[in-house]
Amino acid sequence: VTSEETRERLQAAVRGARVVSWRRRPTPAETFARLGRACEELGIEEWDQYAERGAVARLEAEVAGLLGTETAVLFPSGTMAQQAMLRVWCDRAGSRRVALPDLSHLVQHESDGPRTLHGLDLEHLTTGPRAATADDLRALPHPAGLGAVLLELPLRDAGCLLPTWEELGELAATARGLGVRLHLDGARLGESLPHLGRTMAEVAGLADSVYLSFYKGLGALSGAAVGCPADAAAELRRWRHRMGGTLYRLTPYAVGGLVGLREELPRLASYVAWARELAAACVERGLRVQPDPPHTNTLHLLGEGEQEAAARALTGVVEREGVLPCSPWAPADVPGWLRSEVAVHGEALDHDPAVVADWVVESLG
Ligand SMILES: Cc1ncc(COP(=O)(O)O)c(C=O)c1O
Repeated sequence: VTSEETRERLQAAVRGARVVSWRRRPTPAETFARLGRACEELGIEEWDQYAERGAVARLEAEVAGLLGTETAVLFPSGTMAQQAMLRVWCDRAGSRRVALPDLSHLVQHESDGPRTLHGLDLEHLTTGPRAATADDLRALPHPAGLGAVLLELPLRDAGCLLPTWEELGELAATARGLGVRLHLDGARLGESLPHLGRTMAEVAGLADSVYLSFYKGLGALSGAAVGCPADAAAELRRWRHRMGGTLYRLTPYAVGGLVGLREELPRLASYVAWARELAAACVERGLRVQPDPPHTNTLHLLGEGEQEAAARALTGVVEREGVLPCSPWAPADVPGWLRSEVAVHGEALDHDPAVVADWVVESLG
């Protein structure tokens, strides 16, 4: 537990930091100016209207090209995108059952939306910090009766954990053999490619539909897209409209996505490499890392400590360096241990991982 005073001091330090989540925080004016320049650089002269034409059509075509899917559909959020996609697959299958990890975003962070809005019946494919395998799918009761199976690549709440390419292929083949549609929560799919050793299209080719976020590694304001076959995309667009997601103008989000694909996607592998260097330096200093080595640009750190002391120590580091090197330490499952998440983006590359590892150790108190 952290005292109110300590929490407020830490929050104030974080608000004043130059770099958070290893990104420099531009002001709203700087962000809008960047989007304006991007429109000129990319020759975007036309607005979309209700998600048709303009930057939206362009982004959807680019994403479909990257994923190798027939079509891609832009959404204002991943939450809306994935609920819509699962709704489509379940309606087609005539089953409300969706198998997914208990740590999935849909279970943990969507206020029960999949059930209350769409009547979906979520079943746990895995429990805890573990990558799902074909055996997990086969072990469910009557797996052929599922409406869909969802894999979160990587599993964020487990330190961005991934299966191997072989495990993923076997799971996909098992789903196909059962006649169950496979949807990938690829919010951080670009960040997963170095570990999987495959292209985006190769990974997406295993699944029936894939969601991609524009504001995780890709650094846009918000927004997401789902790649899927054209007939499913038509249904997805209807659901987007019904759910209020077909905004009159989606251009600001679409331009952000186009910038992210150009500027951030090619750099994600360098963020993963830096995260691995940081992890090794933290392990040398006695911390634990999950997964070790990291599978993506995001990892969990674990160390012995006390939360109040850690919050004070982290505040000191943030006030001195102007950088929040890792998320505030929170209790881990083991008594006396704390856990923190590090998500590595562009600003990290200007720093020596060994120096940052020293800050991290210091921040544990
Ligand atoms: C793995 C995963 N899936 C889905 C989402 C939902 O994305 P959005 O915030 O765009 O609704 C997130 C967002 O953090 C996520 O991390």
